[in-house]
Amino acid sequence: AAAEKGGHDYFMLKEIEEQPAAVADTLRGHFVDGCIVLDEQRLSDQELRDIDKVFVVACGSSYHSGLVAKYAIEHWTRLPVEVELASEFRYRDPVLDRSTLVVAISQSGETADTLEAVRHAKDQKARVLAVCNTNGAQIPREADAVLYTRTGPEIGVASTKAFLAQMAANYLVGLALAQARGTKYPDEVAREYQDLAAMPEKIAELLTGMEPVRALARELSASPAVLFLGRHVGYPVALEGALKLKELAYMHAEGFAAGELKHGPIALIEDGLPVIVVMPSPKGRAVLHSKLLSNIREIQARGAVTVVIAEEGDETVRPFADHLVEIPSSASLLQPLLSTVPLQVFAAEVAQARGYDVDKPRNLAKSVTVE
Ligand code: G6P
Repeated sequence: AAAEKGGHDYFMLKEIEEQPAAVADTLRGHFVDGCIVLDEQRLSDQELRDIDKVFVVACGSSYHSGLVAKYAIEHWTRLPVEVELASEFRYRDPVLDRSTLVVAISQSGETADTLEAVRHAKDQKARVLAVCNTNGAQIPREADAVLYTRTGPEIGVASTKAFLAQMAANYLVGLALAQARGTKYPDEVAREYQDLAAMPEKIAELLTGMEPVRALARELSASPAVLFLGRHVGYPVALEGALKLKELAYMHAEGFAAGELKHGPIALIEDGLPVIVVMPSPKGRAVLHSKLLSNIREIQARGAVTVVIAEEGDETVRPFADHLVEIPSSASLLQPLLSTVPLQVFAAEVAQARGYDVDKPRNLAKSVTVE
């Protein structure tokens, strides 16, 4: 069993280490002769060009990967994108027709709510594109187009490598749509793809420096709660960081959009409360960066213990970071492929420090096939 876990105590820890390969394998073969290609494609070029709205539906971590995708798809394609929990979408009357694309994201491809959301969409003639980790699962079988994440089986109940691979696949979906619609020139698609292709190496580099994050997790493992703040693509990362901590460490954890701080969350700040802040790129997102910097100041002044995830070389955050976690710099839309990693490591280590089995968190199932 130890060998199966690659020398780790838990599958999840091995799966965290497998993330550079999970992203590389998911990208492989999808950029051919200057074009983004999906795995299965039963929609014509014309049908793809006619798409005028996108809904992303998913549950759990897959939903968070969809929230990240919205920023990229809207930016690259100029299509309106809504991201919705499958369990909400399927019981609403969403306005859909044959020019709506529903992107269903599911590691297992069998989640009941996501499957029913797909059927609900198809009843209204919407086109469905599945992002899935399981060949031939029900959701990809019912979809018009499929992009598989290629992580191999994920054993840990809390998603890690599948989540990173989903984000990579979603970026490919965004580029495929931009290409079909002509909102990006071929050389621009190629450039974005090159940025994406550079990510596995950066994730690998980041993973070599996680010991301080583990030490910090042990230090903070008795905290009653942890807050997570982010903006733009860092906001869904904050939500995912909080979800991981709830799932694995059974700790009260909440992610907030940093711009909402003054609308409530700041009332929660008290002496010694750890707050993990995901900083945007100082160059790529200078305005948001300066806004987050003042948010950190405000919470630090009220006694929060600030843990700041920031790009290497971002000197401006140092004075306000009680703990600094550096990540390699990257294209700003792609940063979640990096900023998520220390949050996974943090949650896993807090859980272990508290004596929990990180592969099998209490009350949770790997795949929720009944409502
Ligand atoms: C469960 C798992 C999560 C996963 C979610 C959605 O809650 O514990 O890790 O994100 O289901 O699963 P899916 O297979 O549809 O991605």
